[in-house]
Amino acid sequence: MTSKFTMDEPQPRLLDETGQGVIGTPMDRTDGPKKVSGTAEYSGDHSVEGMAHGVLVRATISRGKVRSMDTDAVKSIEGVIDVITDPRLIRNPAQGMAGEAPVQPGDEVHYHGQPIALVVAESFEAARDGAQRLVVDYEVEEAASAPDETPDTEVSDPVTAGDFDAVWSSAEVKVDRNYTTPSQVAAAMEPHAALAEWSGDTVTLRSSLQMIRFNKAELADSLGIDPSKVRILAPFVGGGFGSKLGLGPEAVAAAVAAQKLGRPVRVVMPRQTVFDAILRRSETAQRVRFGAGKDGRITAISHDDRVSNVDGEGFAEPVSQASQFIYGADGLSFTQTLARIAATPTGSVRAPGEAVGMLAFEAGVDELADTLGVDPLQLRLENLPDKHPMDGRDYSTRRLADCLRDGAERFGWSDRGPAGSKRDGDWLIGMGMASAARANMLIQSAARVRLTGDKAIVETDMTDIGTGTYTILAQITAEMLGLRPDQVEVRLGDSDLPGASGSGGSFGASSAGSATFLAARKLREQIAEKLGCSEDDLTLQGGRARGDNHESALSELITEEIVGEASIEAGKTAESHFSAGFGAHFAEVAVNEWTGEVRVRRMLGVMSIGRILNEKTARSQALGGMIWGIGAALTEEMESDRRDGHIVTRDLANYHVPVHADVPGDMQVVFLEERDDWANPIQSKGVGELGISGAGAAVINAIAHATGHRVYDYPCHPDRVL
Ligand code: MOS
Repeated sequence: MTSKFTMDEPQPRLLDETGQGVIGTPMDRTDGPKKVSGTAEYSGDHSVEGMAHGVLVRATISRGKVRSMDTDAVKSIEGVIDVITDPRLIRNPAQGMAGEAPVQPGDEVHYHGQPIALVVAESFEAARDGAQRLVVDYEVEEAASAPDETPDTEVSDPVTAGDFDAVWSSAEVKVDRNYTTPSQVAAAMEPHAALAEWSGDTVTLRSSLQMIRFNKAELADSLGIDPSKVRILAPFVGGGFGSKLGLGPEAVAAAVAAQKLGRPVRVVMPRQTVFDAILRRSETAQRVRFGAGKDGRITAISHDDRVSNVDGEGFAEPVSQASQFIYGADGLSFTQTLARIAATPTGSVRAPGEAVGMLAFEAGVDELADTLGVDPLQLRLENLPDKHPMDGRDYSTRRLADCLRDGAERFGWSDRGPAGSKRDGDWLIGMGMASAARANMLIQSAARVRLTGDKAIVETDMTDIGTGTYTILAQITAEMLGLRPDQVEVRLGDSDLPGASGSGGSFGASSAGSATFLAARKLREQIAEKLGCSEDDLTLQGGRARGDNHESALSELITEEIVGEASIEAGKTAESHFSAGFGAHFAEVAVNEWTGEVRVRRMLGVMSIGRILNEKTARSQALGGMIWGIGAALTEEMESDRRDGHIVTRDLANYHVPVHADVPGDMQVVFLEERDDWANPIQSKGVGELGISGAGAAVINAIAHATGHRVYDYPCHPDRVL
């Protein structure tokens, strides 16, 4: 088998050919015992001799300037060491754009909740006391904190294919709807935390971060020092979902304070600060238009959106990303409006774009099916394009039709019946479905594998944010070297190790996994040379190496350490092809006819994600995404006070993520076999974000089927449902 993956190097040997059967198996996470026994040390768990505690002071105006702060009063509090007001601290890192230089230096306030100072004390309690009592004098400016109140908007040029206006105006059947989705927060289980320690002119930062190769550059830039003077450690990260892609204000503050005071400083954010001062997902307003012939062929697709961010930030939620490649039409058009407001900066939150864009887009397809009087599953199946509708590229692999059909069969879609036709006592029962789609990416990534005897060590600055990186990289290395996974030690989360993609955009496992695969392959070449055969003729199995003439135990052959190091470049996916994960979500809901309460009774996601690297961790990712989908459809909503933009729902008691009682016991995930030869040398695709993309729409469409009418403003509260 040859790989179509394009590389400057010789075609890589595929994992298939090693024959170990480790890759893909549903292995338990190797870090699991450490996590559940509390011995995995997170950033906020770590403490060092002489450490001081910092608590961020946050602005209480939406826009203006800090005129003065009464720092003397706070410094007189027992235990308070200092109040740090260094302008570098106030700079707001561009958290949504890993690798980009932070913006907004100085004394300006751009949003309510923006960090403006750090109170440092001998104890966390004293620091918190000081932070609460610091009196700040502001010069207040007027600023809109809601997108519909600001005249300051930037409208993109439309992204088009064909002549949308012409096909739209002549379409026989039309759906034209406006939707809104609220702001959302990543709410990772581990709050943001950082511990900075200087040694001479070098700073070591322990912080909860997703992409430490990039974060290292960001910290160097924020502090105005050379990146070689920065080391970042993040061996365990308790979730990120985008909120830890970029360096947060707690890290810069800890580093600035530690340098000034000449002692280590730790800053751990309380949950409310995470809501205020860490990026959020933008609220959206979306207009979705579908035009079709009476025969059920979609002719026109348009998805226009409005999102927001603070001044100077480059990120804009890519709402219509998947709308541009799922269905075909003669004319397609997509426009984005970015409103500049004084509110917590927006950035990447799990599946930026698809997570909220598909809530509206896939509800629109469903409504088109109703309008045409056809089955929504059938409408989708009949409108899948042969090629990427915007640029004509071939899809790499796309089993969307198989996922739709397989899911329908498993879920019992044919028993669905007409809208409003089923009930169970006071509960109206409905079934809904949606396509799932999420673009697949590859990011530059390096790894080193060292082998002594039959023990291997993988080294990369990749992170494991709870997704299974430790386990997957051990599986790939074991597969390539003919070892058991427990003979492979994986070292992650240290910026002194070869720089990896980090965890984000669902590219982590494929990118870092490809680098590890290539590094292990270099070891195979060295082993073959020692054995006097070519790598093609080498078999590594059960800790033994076998060539055409010789055979040896690795423990006897590799008596001195050998090292393989390799890197995979970003964007090496063949340009002729477009790679994305696809799937289908199905949901059954019960809606109480008196209260409007919605209960999800069961859900099924059928997905195709290239080669599965670990069936268990992949399933967990898919399930987690689908649960986010339930939240987006029913409860999740970050609300702000329009007067000053301050976030009202700023803890997990007020911001409602689904709890166990909201998640049905019957949640199924099925993966359809697939290898993506165009995506990367290990033929895998991302899965983390595919689970959420479209999942909420399946719930929303099920509600419409149960009640017979549609909701256009999400989440679907009881008051909106009836
Ligand atoms: Mo993801 S939102 O790129 O961590």
